[in-house]
Amino acid sequence: MQQGLFISFEGIDGAGKSSHIEALAQAFRDAGRALVQTREPGGTPLAEKLRELVLHDAMDPLCEALLVFAARRDHLTQVIEPALARGDVVLCDRFTDATFAYQGGGRGFSLDVLSQLEHWVQAQPSGALRQPDLTVWFALDPAIAAERLSAARVPDRFESQPLAFFSQVHQGYAARAAADPARFARIDASATLAQVRQEVLNIMHMRGYLAAQS
Ligand code: TYD
Repeated sequence: MQQGLFISFEGIDGAGKSSHIEALAQAFRDAGRALVQTREPGGTPLAEKLRELVLHDAMDPLCEALLVFAARRDHLTQVIEPALARGDVVLCDRFTDATFAYQGGGRGFSLDVLSQLEHWVQAQPSGALRQPDLTVWFALDPAIAAERLSAARVPDRFESQPLAFFSQVHQGYAARAAADPARFARIDASATLAQVRQEVLNIMHMRGYLAAQS
């Protein structure tokens, strides 16, 4: 049986990760890997209900943090852990780094409390924290991301935040990446779609997750 592989994708709103996750999912399927493509907050019926609340209902930052971690707990136990135990590839659009970036960086909520919640929700029986094997961070200047977003649909509670919020979120991601450089692969998301797509594939080849095309 193949070993499970857990990859998360991060970046501020407007960094353009969705189409790249799609393309990567296809590359894994073409390579014959069983795959689960999922997202946070969400990924289970319960977590998708919590996502609706988090994205659209007013609440204080602690409540927001508790809801995203509650959603994460359900998602981990119902979807992610079983998939990894089967040996599947799990591609997850956002995971805990988003909580540190948005609730911690953006909202300024206590990183200590977030670390405690992270421990509660992600501790495995061995005591080790469940984290992605790889986190692909689509890094983009918040001003460019805001321009891209302004052309998009009706904004949710996060997308409607001012530029300063996204600068803090960006800093939040930078801090997480600096704390765990081996897990993070930073991609310059200001490059063209084709360049970013190739860069994502290069990372998979370098890590031995996908065979390089001959
Ligand atoms: P996003 O992943 O950008 O989905 P879509 O492309 O459908 O808008 O939206 C999720 C939003 O939730 C995004 O603005 C970041 C936010 N979020 C948090 O604030 N904390 C979290 O822990 C997670 C996972 C997401």
